[in-house]
Amino acid sequence: MVANKAKVYLVGAGPGDPDLLTMKAHRLIGDADVVVYDRLVSDEIMALVQDGASRINVGKQPRCHPVPQEEINDLLVNMAKPDRKVVRLKGGDPFLFGRGSEEAAHLHANGIDYEVVPGVTSASGCAAGIGLPLTHRGLANGVRFVTGHCREDMPLDLDWRGLADADTTLVIYMGRANISQISIRLISEGLAATTPAMAVANGTKADQRHVISNLGEISAAAADVDLDGPVLFVIGRVVGLAGELGIELETEAVDDVLAAAQEVRRA
Ligand SMILES: C[S@@+](CC[C@H](N)C(=O)[O-])C[C@H]1O[C@@H](n2cnc3c(N)ncnc32)[C@H](O)[C@@H]1O
Repeated sequence: MVANKAKVYLVGAGPGDPDLLTMKAHRLIGDADVVVYDRLVSDEIMALVQDGASRINVGKQPRCHPVPQEEINDLLVNMAKPDRKVVRLKGGDPFLFGRGSEEAAHLHANGIDYEVVPGVTSASGCAAGIGLPLTHRGLANGVRFVTGHCREDMPLDLDWRGLADADTTLVIYMGRANISQISIRLISEGLAATTPAMAVANGTKADQRHVISNLGEISAAAADVDLDGPVLFVIGRVVGLAGELGIELETEAVDDVLAAAQEVRRA
């Protein structure tokens, strides 16, 4: 890392497994003088920070934001100094649902250089961690990443009709609180309740858990299994490949789910 001019590196930490860091992220984290990090950055990755470096936790919980975004933006500007190596470390990819672009714009507006180092986003990480693809010839010709989180007490305002498309895979970030509402809206727009669906918690970490069900039941299934930690939902025919790919199912209604998935695939 060359740091003779004030610059902040916006670095993706990936979904949790340190082996999924890019080589560049690994090097920057190890060289940093200051690391400003989020709740979802794993302990194993924070262990790569050198002794003596400042570690600043600005982690947020859903509906509870200990450090307001504006303060994080200002903190980054204040931390950036010539010859100081500053890493802003974010879970997954910094420019996917991570407000990284707001931080970049604020740095730029204040005359500070920034560089983005992409990370493995949780959609790819979780799918790979389970062993499922996000697209598959004949089953899904595209994939869409959407947020399942809305501003306090506001209804989720998504293009439900467009999203209720059996030919694409839908990945829902931050959807735990609203998965019931999301399922109902998709079904009401015509997506079959039998469409295979999966929830993954703590994807790629040692305590990764998943549940495979269908759209109509995924909300109850995820609640039954009591998934802890960040949860990602994947909805679409690709999830129905679980049997063929030898993926372990954590639900009890395994046979029903796989039979329903096969039906959806044939339709
Ligand atoms: C604020 S978003 C950040 C997304 C991140 N920038 C990325 O690219 O993955 C947080 C959401 O990402 C998902 N997420 C992040 N890490 C995860 C993991 N290890 N397992 C499951 N979901 C994860 C969850 O849906 C969580 O609510």
